[in-house]
Amino acid sequence: MSATSVIEVRNLSKVFDLSPDQARKALDAGEDRAQAVREAGGVLAVNNASFTVESGELFVIMGLSGSGKSTVIRMINRLVEPTAGEVIYDGTDIGGMAPQQLRELRNKRIGMVFQHFALFPHRTVRENAAYGLKTRGISRRERLERADQALEQVGLSHRGDAYPDEFSGGMKQRVGLARALATDPDVLIMDEPFSALDPLIRRAMQEQLLELQEKFRKTILFVTHDLNEAMRIGDRIMVMKDGEVIQLGTGQEIISHPANDYVEDFVSDVDRTRSLTAGAVMQSPWLTASVDDQPPKVLAWLNKSRGGGVYVIDGEGHIVGVATGERLSEAAASGKTDLRDCVVDDFMTVSDETPINEFCHLTGGHIVPLAVVDGDKQLIGVVPRAKVLHAIATAAEETPQHA
Ligand SMILES: Nc1ncnc2c1ncn2[C@@H]1O[C@H](COP(=O)(O)OP(=O)(O)O)[C@@H](O)[C@H]1O
Ligand SMILES: [Mg+2]
Repeated sequence: MSATSVIEVRNLSKVFDLSPDQARKALDAGEDRAQAVREAGGVLAVNNASFTVESGELFVIMGLSGSGKSTVIRMINRLVEPTAGEVIYDGTDIGGMAPQQLRELRNKRIGMVFQHFALFPHRTVRENAAYGLKTRGISRRERLERADQALEQVGLSHRGDAYPDEFSGGMKQRVGLARALATDPDVLIMDEPFSALDPLIRRAMQEQLLELQEKFRKTILFVTHDLNEAMRIGDRIMVMKDGEVIQLGTGQEIISHPANDYVEDFVSDVDRTRSLTAGAVMQSPWLTASVDDQPPKVLAWLNKSRGGGVYVIDGEGHIVGVATGERLSEAAASGKTDLRDCVVDDFMTVSDETPINEFCHLTGGHIVPLAVVDGDKQLIGVVPRAKVLHAIATAAEETPQHA
Protein backbone atom coordinates (compact mmCIF):
# COMPACT_ATOMS: atom_id res chain seq x y z
CA MET A 1 0.00 0.00 0.00
CA SER A 2 1.59 3.29 -1.03
CA ALA A 3 1.43 6.45 1.05
CA THR A 4 -1.27 7.90 -1.14
CA SER A 5 -3.63 4.91 -1.36
CA VAL A 6 -7.03 5.58 0.08
CA ILE A 7 -8.60 2.21 -0.55
CA GLU A 8 -6.86 -1.11 -0.71
CA VAL A 9 -8.82 -4.19 -1.69
CA ARG A 10 -7.19 -7.56 -1.03
CA ASN A 11 -8.42 -10.86 -2.40
CA LEU A 12 -12.02 -9.80 -2.15
CA SER A 13 -14.70 -12.35 -3.05
CA LYS A 14 -18.46 -12.47 -2.82
CA VAL A 15 -20.63 -15.53 -3.12
CA PHE A 16 -24.40 -15.06 -3.21
CA ASP A 17 -27.04 -17.68 -2.49
CA LEU A 18 -24.92 -20.10 -0.45
CA SER A 19 -24.55 -20.47 3.31
CA PRO A 20 -21.28 -18.97 4.64
CA ASP A 21 -19.92 -22.48 5.21
CA GLN A 22 -20.79 -23.71 1.74
CA ALA A 23 -19.42 -20.49 0.26
CA ARG A 24 -16.09 -20.73 2.04
CA LYS A 25 -15.73 -24.35 1.09
CA ALA A 26 -16.37 -23.57 -2.58
CA LEU A 27 -13.89 -20.67 -2.48
CA ASP A 28 -11.24 -23.05 -1.14
CA ALA A 29 -11.33 -24.85 -4.48
CA GLY A 30 -8.76 -22.28 -5.68
CA GLU A 31 -8.57 -22.08 -9.47
CA ASP A 32 -11.77 -24.08 -9.77
CA ARG A 33 -13.77 -22.00 -7.37
CA ALA A 34 -16.06 -20.52 -9.99
CA GLN A 35 -17.15 -24.01 -10.97
CA ALA A 36 -17.39 -25.14 -7.35
CA VAL A 37 -19.66 -22.23 -6.49
CA ARG A 38 -21.83 -22.89 -9.51
CA GLU A 39 -22.15 -26.59 -8.75
CA ALA A 40 -23.17 -25.80 -5.18
CA GLY A 41 -25.91 -23.56 -6.59
CA GLY A 42 -24.35 -20.19 -5.75
CA VAL A 43 -23.26 -17.10 -7.66
CA LEU A 44 -19.62 -16.02 -7.55
CA ALA A 45 -20.21 -12.31 -8.09
CA VAL A 46 -16.67 -11.21 -7.27
CA ASN A 47 -13.70 -13.55 -7.53
CA ASN A 48 -10.51 -12.72 -5.66
CA ALA A 49 -10.27 -9.04 -6.64
CA SER A 50 -7.26 -7.02 -5.51
CA PHE A 51 -6.50 -3.39 -6.31
CA THR A 52 -5.67 -0.06 -4.72
CA VAL A 53 -7.20 3.33 -5.35
CA GLU A 54 -4.92 6.33 -4.95
CA SER A 55 -5.84 9.62 -3.40
CA GLY A 56 -7.27 12.08 -5.93
CA GLU A 57 -7.64 9.67 -8.81
CA LEU A 58 -10.68 9.01 -10.93
CA PHE A 59 -10.69 5.23 -10.87
CA VAL A 60 -13.04 3.58 -13.32
CA ILE A 61 -14.40 0.05 -12.93
CA MET A 62 -15.54 -1.18 -16.32
CA GLY A 63 -17.19 -4.39 -17.42
CA LEU A 64 -20.32 -5.79 -19.01
CA SER A 65 -23.54 -6.14 -17.06
CA GLY A 66 -23.21 -8.85 -14.40
CA SER A 67 -19.41 -8.69 -14.22
CA GLY A 68 -19.46 -7.79 -10.52
CA LYS A 69 -18.87 -4.03 -10.58
CA SER A 70 -21.68 -3.03 -8.24
CA THR A 71 -20.90 -5.86 -5.84
CA VAL A 72 -17.29 -4.71 -5.58
CA ILE A 73 -18.15 -1.12 -4.74
CA ARG A 74 -20.87 -2.15 -2.31
CA MET A 75 -18.33 -4.22 -0.44
CA ILE A 76 -16.13 -1.13 -0.19
CA ASN A 77 -18.61 0.56 2.11
CA ARG A 78 -19.96 -2.79 3.31
CA LEU A 79 -23.47 -2.43 2.02
CA VAL A 80 -22.61 -5.96 0.89
CA GLU A 81 -20.71 -8.16 3.34
CA PRO A 82 -17.63 -9.78 1.73
CA THR A 83 -17.44 -13.57 1.77
CA ALA A 84 -13.64 -13.40 1.83
CA GLY A 85 -10.92 -10.79 1.61
CA GLU A 86 -10.32 -7.34 3.02
CA VAL A 87 -11.06 -3.72 2.35
CA ILE A 88 -8.62 -1.30 3.93
CA TYR A 89 -9.93 2.23 4.02
CA ASP A 90 -7.41 4.91 4.90
CA GLY A 91 -5.37 2.39 6.85
CA THR A 92 -8.31 0.79 8.67
CA ASP A 93 -9.79 -2.61 7.92
CA ILE A 94 -13.49 -1.89 7.50
CA GLY A 95 -14.25 -5.55 8.20
CA GLY A 96 -13.56 -4.81 11.84
CA MET A 97 -15.72 -1.69 12.04
CA ALA A 98 -18.63 -1.51 14.47
CA PRO A 99 -22.05 -0.49 13.09
CA GLN A 100 -21.67 3.06 14.42
CA GLN A 101 -18.29 3.48 12.70
CA LEU A 102 -19.72 2.09 9.50
CA ARG A 103 -22.57 4.57 9.55
CA GLU A 104 -20.04 7.37 10.00
CA LEU A 105 -18.00 6.03 7.12
CA ARG A 106 -21.02 6.04 4.82
CA ASN A 107 -22.42 9.34 6.04
CA LYS A 108 -19.31 11.43 6.10
CA ARG A 109 -16.47 9.89 4.21
CA ILE A 110 -17.89 7.98 1.27
CA GLY A 111 -20.54 9.66 -0.88
CA MET A 112 -22.58 7.67 -3.38
CA VAL A 113 -24.37 8.51 -6.61
CA PHE A 114 -26.45 5.92 -8.47
CA GLN A 115 -27.99 5.54 -11.88
CA HIS A 116 -31.52 6.02 -10.58
CA PHE A 117 -31.15 8.59 -7.95
CA ALA A 118 -34.22 9.05 -5.79
CA LEU A 119 -35.03 12.72 -5.26
CA PHE A 120 -37.91 13.75 -3.03
CA PRO A 121 -40.55 15.27 -5.31
CA HIS A 122 -42.18 17.34 -2.56
CA ARG A 123 -38.91 18.99 -1.55
CA THR A 124 -37.05 21.75 -3.37
CA VAL A 125 -33.86 21.03 -5.22
CA ARG A 126 -31.94 22.83 -2.47
CA GLU A 127 -33.54 20.68 0.24
CA ASN A 128 -32.81 17.59 -1.81
CA ALA A 129 -29.17 18.58 -2.14
CA ALA A 130 -28.99 19.26 1.61
CA TYR A 131 -30.50 15.90 2.52
CA GLY A 132 -27.21 14.07 3.15
CA LEU A 133 -26.30 16.62 5.83
CA LYS A 134 -29.36 15.95 7.94
CA THR A 135 -27.71 13.72 10.47
CA ARG A 136 -24.70 15.98 10.91
CA GLY A 137 -25.98 18.09 13.77
CA ILE A 138 -25.49 21.36 11.91
CA SER A 139 -28.06 24.13 11.60
CA ARG A 140 -30.62 24.08 8.83
CA ARG A 141 -29.25 27.38 7.60
CA GLU A 142 -25.76 26.00 7.21
CA ARG A 143 -27.07 22.86 5.55
CA LEU A 144 -28.88 24.92 2.95
CA GLU A 145 -25.85 27.13 2.42
CA ARG A 146 -23.70 24.12 1.76
CA ALA A 147 -26.34 22.72 -0.56
CA ASP A 148 -26.26 25.98 -2.52
CA GLN A 149 -22.48 25.75 -2.84
CA ALA A 150 -22.76 22.19 -4.10
CA LEU A 151 -25.48 23.18 -6.58
CA GLU A 152 -23.18 25.86 -7.88
CA GLN A 153 -20.42 23.30 -8.37
CA VAL A 154 -22.66 21.23 -10.63
CA GLY A 155 -23.89 24.21 -12.62
CA LEU A 156 -27.28 24.59 -10.94
CA SER A 157 -26.82 27.81 -9.00
CA HIS A 158 -30.02 29.81 -8.68
CA ARG A 159 -32.13 26.73 -9.32
CA GLY A 160 -32.40 25.72 -5.68
CA ASP A 161 -36.03 26.79 -5.34
CA ALA A 162 -37.23 24.58 -8.18
CA TYR A 163 -38.81 21.16 -7.64
CA PRO A 164 -37.30 18.00 -9.13
CA ASP A 165 -40.14 17.35 -11.57
CA GLU A 166 -39.30 20.62 -13.33
CA PHE A 167 -35.91 19.09 -14.14
CA SER A 168 -34.70 16.88 -16.99
CA GLY A 169 -32.93 13.58 -16.33
CA GLY A 170 -29.49 15.17 -16.64
CA MET A 171 -30.37 17.96 -14.24
CA LYS A 172 -31.75 15.47 -11.73
CA GLN A 173 -28.48 13.57 -11.84
CA ARG A 174 -26.70 16.86 -11.14
CA VAL A 175 -28.84 17.28 -8.04
CA GLY A 176 -27.85 13.77 -7.01
CA LEU A 177 -24.21 14.67 -7.50
CA ALA A 178 -24.70 17.91 -5.55
CA ARG A 179 -26.22 15.93 -2.69
CA ALA A 180 -23.12 13.76 -2.55
CA LEU A 181 -20.76 16.76 -2.87
CA ALA A 182 -22.54 18.74 -0.15
CA THR A 183 -21.38 16.21 2.42
CA ASP A 184 -17.80 16.83 1.25
CA PRO A 185 -16.87 13.14 1.25
CA ASP A 186 -13.29 11.91 0.96
CA VAL A 187 -14.34 9.34 -1.60
CA LEU A 188 -17.13 9.54 -4.12
CA ILE A 189 -18.58 6.30 -5.44
CA MET A 190 -20.58 6.62 -8.65
CA ASP A 191 -22.38 3.53 -9.92
CA GLU A 192 -23.31 4.06 -13.57
CA PRO A 193 -24.49 7.57 -12.75
CA PHE A 194 -24.89 8.62 -16.38
CA SER A 195 -26.02 5.35 -17.94
CA ALA A 196 -29.67 6.31 -18.20
CA LEU A 197 -28.97 9.63 -19.90
CA ASP A 198 -29.06 10.24 -23.62
CA PRO A 199 -25.67 10.58 -25.32
CA LEU A 200 -25.41 14.35 -25.58
CA ILE A 201 -26.40 14.99 -22.00
CA ARG A 202 -24.14 12.19 -20.96
CA ARG A 203 -21.21 13.85 -22.69
CA ALA A 204 -21.99 17.12 -20.96
CA MET A 205 -22.10 15.35 -17.59
CA GLN A 206 -18.75 13.70 -18.25
CA GLU A 207 -17.24 17.07 -19.13
CA GLN A 208 -18.63 18.54 -15.97
CA LEU A 209 -17.29 15.73 -13.84
CA LEU A 210 -13.83 16.28 -15.36
CA GLU A 211 -14.06 20.00 -14.64
CA LEU A 212 -15.04 19.30 -11.05
CA GLN A 213 -12.18 16.86 -10.80
CA GLU A 214 -9.70 19.48 -12.09
CA LYS A 215 -10.77 21.74 -9.26
CA PHE A 216 -11.28 19.41 -6.33
CA ARG A 217 -9.24 16.27 -7.03
CA LYS A 218 -11.56 13.94 -5.14
CA THR A 219 -10.95 10.25 -4.98
CA ILE A 220 -13.66 8.89 -7.25
CA LEU A 221 -14.68 5.31 -8.00
CA PHE A 222 -16.73 5.43 -11.13
CA VAL A 223 -18.55 2.38 -12.48
CA THR A 224 -19.53 2.07 -16.12
CA HIS A 225 -20.22 -0.60 -18.73
CA ASP A 226 -19.24 1.87 -21.45
CA LEU A 227 -15.68 1.74 -22.72
CA ASN A 228 -15.91 5.19 -24.29
CA GLU A 229 -16.98 6.72 -21.03
CA ALA A 230 -14.18 4.90 -19.23
CA MET A 231 -11.60 6.11 -21.74
CA ARG A 232 -12.82 9.66 -21.62
CA ILE A 233 -12.81 10.17 -17.88
CA GLY A 234 -10.66 7.52 -16.19
CA ASP A 235 -7.18 8.15 -14.82
CA ARG A 236 -7.00 4.37 -14.53
CA ILE A 237 -9.44 1.73 -15.66
CA MET A 238 -10.05 -1.65 -14.06
CA VAL A 239 -11.61 -4.15 -16.46
CA MET A 240 -13.79 -6.85 -14.88
CA LYS A 241 -15.22 -10.04 -16.33
CA ASP A 242 -17.16 -12.75 -14.49
CA GLY A 243 -16.25 -11.25 -11.14
CA GLU A 244 -12.52 -11.15 -11.87
CA VAL A 245 -10.18 -8.24 -12.39
CA ILE A 246 -8.83 -8.82 -15.88
CA GLN A 247 -6.70 -5.71 -16.29
CA LEU A 248 -5.89 -2.51 -14.48
CA GLY A 249 -4.09 0.39 -16.12
CA THR A 250 -4.44 3.72 -17.88
CA GLY A 251 -6.64 3.82 -20.95
CA GLN A 252 -3.56 4.10 -23.10
CA GLU A 253 -1.93 1.07 -21.49
CA ILE A 254 -5.05 -1.00 -21.94
CA ILE A 255 -5.35 -0.06 -25.60
CA SER A 256 -1.71 -0.59 -26.41
CA HIS A 257 -1.23 -3.72 -24.27
CA PRO A 258 -4.52 -5.56 -23.72
CA ALA A 259 -4.00 -8.26 -21.07
CA ASN A 260 -5.76 -11.00 -23.05
CA ASP A 261 -8.03 -11.73 -26.01
CA TYR A 262 -11.10 -10.64 -24.13
CA VAL A 263 -9.76 -7.16 -23.48
CA GLU A 264 -8.31 -7.00 -26.95
CA ASP A 265 -11.69 -7.79 -28.41
CA PHE A 266 -13.33 -5.24 -26.16
CA VAL A 267 -10.95 -2.47 -27.13
CA SER A 268 -10.86 -3.43 -30.79
CA ASP A 269 -13.56 -0.82 -31.24
CA VAL A 270 -11.12 1.75 -30.06
CA ASP A 271 -8.58 0.45 -32.48
CA ARG A 272 -10.18 2.60 -35.12
CA THR A 273 -7.25 4.73 -34.04
CA ARG A 274 -5.21 2.72 -36.52
CA SER A 275 -6.77 4.77 -39.25
CA LEU A 276 -6.64 8.05 -37.35
CA THR A 277 -3.37 9.88 -37.89
CA ALA A 278 -1.46 12.59 -36.10
CA GLY A 279 -2.26 14.88 -39.01
CA ALA A 280 -5.96 14.41 -38.38
CA VAL A 281 -5.83 15.46 -34.76
CA MET A 282 -3.01 18.00 -34.67
CA GLN A 283 -3.47 21.67 -33.87
CA SER A 284 -1.38 24.58 -35.01
CA PRO A 285 1.66 24.97 -32.77
CA TRP A 286 0.86 27.74 -30.32
CA LEU A 287 3.84 27.65 -27.98
CA THR A 288 6.65 28.56 -30.36
CA ALA A 289 9.44 31.15 -30.38
CA SER A 290 12.04 32.13 -32.93
CA VAL A 291 15.75 31.66 -32.18
CA ASP A 292 16.03 35.46 -32.46
CA ASP A 293 13.65 36.11 -29.59
CA GLN A 294 15.02 37.35 -26.28
CA PRO A 295 14.83 34.97 -23.30
CA PRO A 296 13.06 37.43 -20.93
CA LYS A 297 10.37 38.07 -23.50
CA VAL A 298 9.83 34.37 -24.13
CA LEU A 299 9.78 33.70 -20.39
CA ALA A 300 7.12 36.33 -19.79
CA TRP A 301 5.04 34.86 -22.56
CA LEU A 302 5.50 31.28 -21.32
CA ASN A 303 4.41 32.29 -17.85
CA LYS A 304 1.35 33.95 -19.23
CA SER A 305 0.34 30.96 -21.32
CA ARG A 306 1.08 28.54 -18.43
CA GLY A 307 2.80 26.04 -20.70
CA GLY A 308 5.69 23.86 -19.57
CA GLY A 309 7.95 24.89 -22.44
CA VAL A 310 8.19 26.58 -25.81
CA TYR A 311 9.29 25.05 -29.10
CA VAL A 312 12.18 27.11 -30.42
CA ILE A 313 12.20 27.29 -34.22
CA ASP A 314 15.06 28.34 -36.50
CA GLY A 315 14.87 30.33 -39.74
CA GLU A 316 13.92 27.23 -41.73
CA GLY A 317 11.11 26.19 -39.42
CA HIS A 318 13.09 23.35 -37.82
CA ILE A 319 12.84 22.59 -34.14
CA VAL A 320 16.00 23.62 -32.28
CA GLY A 321 14.73 22.39 -28.94
CA VAL A 322 12.35 23.23 -26.15
CA ALA A 323 12.96 26.30 -23.99
CA THR A 324 11.86 25.61 -20.43
CA GLY A 325 10.86 28.11 -17.77
CA GLU A 326 13.82 27.07 -15.66
CA ARG A 327 16.37 27.57 -18.45
CA LEU A 328 14.81 30.85 -19.47
CA SER A 329 14.91 32.17 -15.91
CA GLU A 330 18.58 31.22 -15.61
CA ALA A 331 19.38 32.94 -18.90
CA ALA A 332 17.45 36.04 -17.94
CA ALA A 333 19.24 36.18 -14.58
CA SER A 334 22.72 35.73 -16.07
CA GLY A 335 22.16 38.06 -18.98
CA LYS A 336 22.41 35.41 -21.72
CA THR A 337 20.66 36.56 -24.85
CA ASP A 338 20.77 33.53 -27.14
CA LEU A 339 17.65 31.42 -26.99
CA ARG A 340 19.70 28.47 -28.25
CA ASP A 341 21.32 28.33 -24.81
CA CYS A 342 17.93 27.87 -23.17
CA VAL A 343 16.73 24.71 -24.86
CA VAL A 344 16.50 21.08 -23.77
CA ASP A 345 15.77 17.95 -25.77
CA ASP A 346 12.61 17.02 -23.94
CA PHE A 347 10.19 16.47 -26.83
CA MET A 348 9.04 13.79 -29.29
CA THR A 349 8.21 14.08 -32.95
CA VAL A 350 5.93 12.06 -35.22
CA SER A 351 5.00 12.45 -38.85
CA ASP A 352 1.55 13.59 -39.84
CA GLU A 353 0.86 10.08 -41.16
CA THR A 354 1.66 8.25 -37.92
CA PRO A 355 -1.49 6.46 -36.65
CA ILE A 356 -2.66 7.43 -33.18
CA ASN A 357 -2.32 3.90 -31.82
CA GLU A 358 1.41 4.08 -32.50
CA PHE A 359 2.01 7.21 -30.49
CA CYS A 360 -0.80 7.51 -27.95
CA HIS A 361 1.51 6.15 -25.27
CA LEU A 362 4.02 8.92 -25.99
CA THR A 363 1.68 11.82 -25.36
CA GLY A 364 1.74 13.37 -21.95
CA GLY A 365 5.26 12.14 -21.21
CA HIS A 366 6.92 15.45 -22.02
CA ILE A 367 6.62 19.04 -20.95
CA VAL A 368 5.38 20.08 -24.38
CA PRO A 369 2.78 18.45 -26.60
CA LEU A 370 3.97 15.94 -29.19
CA ALA A 371 5.40 17.68 -32.28
CA VAL A 372 4.20 16.79 -35.77
CA VAL A 373 6.94 17.36 -38.35
CA ASP A 374 6.91 17.05 -42.12
CA GLY A 375 9.46 15.24 -44.26
CA ASP A 376 11.81 18.19 -43.95
CA LYS A 377 11.64 18.07 -40.15
CA GLN A 378 9.75 21.32 -39.98
CA LEU A 379 7.23 21.77 -37.20
CA ILE A 380 3.76 21.69 -38.72
CA GLY A 381 1.59 20.99 -35.68
CA VAL A 382 1.29 19.72 -32.14
CA VAL A 383 -0.92 17.05 -30.59
CA PRO A 384 -1.97 17.76 -27.01
CA ARG A 385 -2.74 14.70 -24.90
CA ALA A 386 -6.36 15.70 -24.44
CA LYS A 387 -6.79 15.72 -28.21
CA VAL A 388 -5.55 12.15 -28.49
CA LEU A 389 -7.80 10.87 -25.73
CA HIS A 390 -10.73 12.66 -27.23
CA ALA A 391 -10.01 11.25 -30.68
CA ILE A 392 -9.72 7.73 -29.30
CA ALA A 393 -13.00 8.02 -27.46
CA THR A 394 -14.77 9.52 -30.45
CA ALA A 395 -13.43 6.91 -32.84
CA ALA A 396 -14.74 4.22 -30.53
CA GLU A 397 -18.14 5.82 -30.46
CA GLU A 398 -18.50 5.45 -34.19
CA THR A 399 -18.27 1.69 -33.84
CA PRO A 400 -21.21 -0.43 -32.65
CA GLN A 401 -21.05 -1.29 -28.95
CA HIS A 402 -20.69 -4.76 -27.56
CA ALA A 403 -24.05 -5.75 -26.14
N1 LIG B 1 -28.16 -9.80 -4.03
C1 LIG B 1 -27.80 -10.71 -4.95
N2 LIG B 1 -28.20 -11.99 -4.86
C2 LIG B 1 -27.82 -12.92 -5.78
N3 LIG B 1 -27.05 -12.64 -6.85
C3 LIG B 1 -26.63 -11.37 -7.01
C4 LIG B 1 -26.98 -10.33 -6.07
N4 LIG B 1 -26.42 -9.18 -6.50
C5 LIG B 1 -25.74 -9.47 -7.62
N5 LIG B 1 -25.87 -10.78 -7.93
C6 LIG B 1 -25.25 -11.47 -9.07
O1 LIG B 1 -23.86 -11.22 -9.02
C7 LIG B 1 -23.31 -11.00 -10.31
C8 LIG B 1 -22.65 -9.63 -10.36
O2 LIG B 1 -23.64 -8.64 -10.23
P1 LIG B 1 -23.32 -7.08 -10.15
O3 LIG B 1 -22.26 -6.84 -9.15
O4 LIG B 1 -24.60 -6.38 -9.95
O5 LIG B 1 -22.74 -6.80 -11.60
P2 LIG B 1 -22.64 -5.43 -12.44
O6 LIG B 1 -22.79 -4.29 -11.48
O7 LIG B 1 -21.30 -5.51 -13.08
O8 LIG B 1 -23.74 -5.47 -13.44
C9 LIG B 1 -24.48 -11.17 -11.27
O9 LIG B 1 -24.48 -12.48 -11.74
C10 LIG B 1 -25.69 -10.91 -10.41
O10 LIG B 1 -26.82 -11.58 -10.91
MG1 LIG C 1 -24.19 -2.71 -11.48
